[in-house]
Amino acid sequence: MRASLFSLAGVASLAFSGLGLAADMEEWKTRSVYQVMIDRYARTDGSTDHECEAHEFCGGSWRGLINKLDYIQDMGFTAIQISPINKNMEEHTAAGDPYHGYWTTDLYALNDKFGTEKDFKDLVSELKKRDIYLMADVVVNHMAQKFDNNPPPKVDYTKFNPFNDEKYFHPYCNVTEEGWLNATEYQNCWLYPYGVALADLDTRNPFVIKEMNSWIKGLVSNYSIDGLRIDAAKHVNDEFLPDFVESSGVFAWGEVLTGEPEDFCRYQTLNLLPGMPNYLDYYKLITSFNGGSFEDLARIKKEAINNCNDTFALGTFVENHDMPRFANKNSDMAIAKNAMTYVILNDGVPTVYQGQEQHFNGFETPHNREPLWQSGYDKESPLYVLTSRLNKVRNNAIKLDKEYVNTASEILWADNNHFCTKKGSYGSQVVYCITNQSSQGTKYELSVGGFQQDEQVVEVLSCKANKAGMSGNVTMYMNNGAPKVYVPAGALKGSGICEQTTEDGYEADSGAGVAGAATGLLTAAIFGWAVMFLA
Ligand SMILES: *[C@@H]1O[C@H](CO)[C@@H](O)[C@H](O)[C@H]1NC(C)=O
Ligand SMILES: *[C@@H]1O[C@H](CO)[C@@H](O)[C@H](O)[C@H]1NC(C)=O
Ligand SMILES: *[C@@H]1O[C@H](CO)[C@@H](O)[C@H](O)[C@H]1NC(C)=O
Ligand SMILES: *[C@@H]1O[C@H](CO)[C@@H](O)[C@H](O)[C@H]1NC(C)=O
Ligand SMILES: *[C@@H]1O[C@H](CO)[C@@H](O)[C@H](O)[C@H]1NC(C)=O
Ligand SMILES: *[C@@H]1O[C@H](CO)[C@@H](O)[C@H](O)[C@H]1NC(C)=O
Repeated sequence: MRASLFSLAGVASLAFSGLGLAADMEEWKTRSVYQVMIDRYARTDGSTDHECEAHEFCGGSWRGLINKLDYIQDMGFTAIQISPINKNMEEHTAAGDPYHGYWTTDLYALNDKFGTEKDFKDLVSELKKRDIYLMADVVVNHMAQKFDNNPPPKVDYTKFNPFNDEKYFHPYCNVTEEGWLNATEYQNCWLYPYGVALADLDTRNPFVIKEMNSWIKGLVSNYSIDGLRIDAAKHVNDEFLPDFVESSGVFAWGEVLTGEPEDFCRYQTLNLLPGMPNYLDYYKLITSFNGGSFEDLARIKKEAINNCNDTFALGTFVENHDMPRFANKNSDMAIAKNAMTYVILNDGVPTVYQGQEQHFNGFETPHNREPLWQSGYDKESPLYVLTSRLNKVRNNAIKLDKEYVNTASEILWADNNHFCTKKGSYGSQVVYCITNQSSQGTKYELSVGGFQQDEQVVEVLSCKANKAGMSGNVTMYMNNGAPKVYVPAGALKGSGICEQTTEDGYEADSGAGVAGAATGLLTAAIFGWAVMFLA
């Protein structure tokens, strides 16, 4: 990394200061994001019996998505993040097909595997009609070509558009084992050379910078894109990012895969990116629900607040297309419900990856990319029903209090087994407790604060009415490891949530539910190899 920090300093003072972008970020904070992998979401003909290999094309399309937007909207989501939209390489490789869209060859052509330009524009206008925001995934780190696994890769650069010459790329080197901790190496070398050469763009080259910035401006404006996810943001040099985001004119999340608060948060404090998917919480969530303690989660949240500028602009998730499914580690339905409750009600922007609501359980890439149609788009599955309720509760809180998204949740209780918070101002606050005890969890009472004396409250997952006691505490009737979510009864008027309630008490079987529909069917076939795709 050459000492080109001069450009960083110059850029930082301007970054994200444009009024448009700031307003856009505030709007994004109020959204709830559903991540769609186009090839695996819905086929144009809507068929649900199509079988395919995990590392090949399955035939999902933009048109298929248009036809199945109700499924997403009825779950309460107000934004989608979709696979990269640009043209990819055509060849089949030892590492499979570019069904995921991350192997770009031409920035000025759309990916015809996903449909025509008209299909894509129809998708955009259908989303506008429904007021669903569109987040496009963009690849800036590299362009891709088939590789015969004989290093160094023999790349025909003339096949790329617009970076059609070797001079726009870093010379080939493979990131060494130690190199994953050395920014010079993981930013300048080529990632995962197996079956495909990810030719690493020299994002310090003035032509590359100028061209990228003008490309993204055109892409956002031509297709009315509302926000970006920048793939492998950590693998391009820092200084490239702020100008790129500024040129796009929209909010962006950059992929920064690290659990270290300082390394992670510097992207915000140095003004490199407005937001990121929240990998800090992610790692702690996985351990908290698998034998660890929620005290670690509470600790990392405090560290994030101390280190990052704006934790409300981070995306909360327990699943994405790069990580093993949550249910792969822990198949218990009550545990999955608790994790979903955290994702939707935590500070930050909820992000749910397609299939999470169907309790899919695939392992690593590509087995964590099961076609959603295998679920039959079941709107009655326990996690679909739960997600829809939680999004409604969050959307309602935001409607009642526009500062809800910028109000830090207060941790009421965090121990080995419980994590309870209160978010929002009095009158529209949301108090929840999650637990890691699984469906085997026993019956017991848990007293948790966050209300006023004698305040009428409703547990919104079971529609049970209760009243806060002297100290403003509510008695939660914990059972079967189910999460509990309480809001003031007054906040529900006219919301359509729990219009009828019964008296609070132990729910017979609230946590266990039925096992996710068709989970058995979804157990992905494990092939003899596992290559980490950069995606
Ligand atoms: C590249 O380096 C990784 C270790 O970071 C190693 O596993 C892989 O085999 C190397 N690939 C090539 C083509 O050298
Ligand atoms: C990082 O990698 C570069 C290029 O391989 C090397 O020159 C440099 O010494 C490494 N830095 C550290 C701290 O190891
Ligand atoms: C956007 O549209 C203009 C006008 O048709 C075109 O020249 C430009 O290449 C397009 N940009 C992208 C990224 O598609
Ligand atoms: C983030 O914090 C740093 C350091 O306090 C400050 O320089 C920067 O302007 C802040 N950025 C934003 C977007 O608030
Ligand atoms: C819940 O956390 C406790 C304390 O860390 C741990 O002993 C227990 O195994 C966890 N339960 C589950 C189901 O992971
Ligand atoms: C009220 O709830 C808080 C946690 O929010 C707890 O620390 C406290 O002990 C509870 N008070 C009573 C009287 O149960």
